[in-house]
Amino acid sequence: MKKWIKRIAVGVVSLIVLLVAVVFGVSESRMRRTYDVAAVTGLNVTKDPAQIARGEHLVKAVAKCADCHTADLGGKVFIEPGPMGTVSASNLTTGKGGVLAAYSDAQLETAIRHGVRSNGRPLLIMPSDEYQHLGDADVSAIIAYLRALPPVNRELPRTKLGPIGRVVVTTGAPIIPAANIDHETVPASRAAVPPVGPTREYGQYLVSVGGCRGCHGPELAGQASFEPGAPPSANITPAGPMGRWSEADFVRAMRTGARPDGSKIAEFMPWRSMATHTDDELRAIWLYLRSVPRVASSAKS
Ligand code: HEC
Ligand code: HEC
Repeated sequence: MKKWIKRIAVGVVSLIVLLVAVVFGVSESRMRRTYDVAAVTGLNVTKDPAQIARGEHLVKAVAKCADCHTADLGGKVFIEPGPMGTVSASNLTTGKGGVLAAYSDAQLETAIRHGVRSNGRPLLIMPSDEYQHLGDADVSAIIAYLRALPPVNRELPRTKLGPIGRVVVTTGAPIIPAANIDHETVPASRAAVPPVGPTREYGQYLVSVGGCRGCHGPELAGQASFEPGAPPSANITPAGPMGRWSEADFVRAMRTGARPDGSKIAEFMPWRSMATHTDDELRAIWLYLRSVPRVASSAKS
């Protein structure tokens, strides 16, 4: 009898050790994989105030970099130390603890559109799978704005995955955007960025680089939120509640965070960044959302 218990115990322990080894091995190889990204040619980073202003608008409103890297771009601890690990949204300035001075313009482009750090390793969480669609002019403007920022002295803990974070990486969950990007081919969307204006086409671009799909799902039909406690994202195709909204309802909701019935939209939805869009941009997004296929909700909302 005792022999059996011992054997089972040895079996269970070996299985656990094996599992831990597999999780460690697979996550380590995913994290340490280096990506070879060909240097981009279309960058044109200047000190032109108009370009810098465009970059600021992209960083704060459209691409929402400031939501994670904070308003002064000095960064913050994004996931507090725990079983997931620690993830810091880096300090993007030249201050103490900042990474900017160590990055060339081409390396910044690689970080933004490919999700790859200056040492070739993948960045966690940052939504480069959506930023890969940013046009050359817009990525240049973002870099111009970063270069113009005053230094912020803020030293953050290094990103390091914990046991749960490693399991998440092993399951292939999309927290390593670089793994889901084709690094060889220029996306067609990027090659043909539509002109700025209140058009459906420009709205499609804004939705694509605005991170909507990361939260609302590939078909914008809503999905469970990845942040514990946050409500599921809404179905924003015409099949969802927004199908009954007017354009004015949409603009008011994005500017004030209140739906037509007066209820509040959760803060996890970045409506405060949406509120800083121009009227033309909100109109463009509205026109595009009106035109997407009706898809029934995939999550209860
Ligand atoms: C959803 C949150 C999020 C958003 C939005 C975001 N980032 Fe990040 N970013 C991160 C995190 C987290 C890291 C660090 C990842 C790591 O250490 O693996 C990071 C890292 C970076 C790095 C690499 C810095 C380093 O430490 O080497 C650059 C450059 C960067 N981000 C620029 C941007 C820009 C520009 C934008 C907007 C176009 C942006 N980020 C939007 C979360 C975000
Ligand atoms: C960080 C995740 C996140 C991102 C990015 C995001 N959303 Fe949301 N959104 C949500 C969540 C979660 C809700 C539901 C909030 C609630 O139930 O109070 C929501 C709700 C909405 C609503 C209200 C719909 C309704 O029926 O109540 C609209 C409109 C909307 N989002 C549009 C957008 C658009 C357009 C974009 C991209 C430009 C976007 N969202 C990006 C998470 C996100």
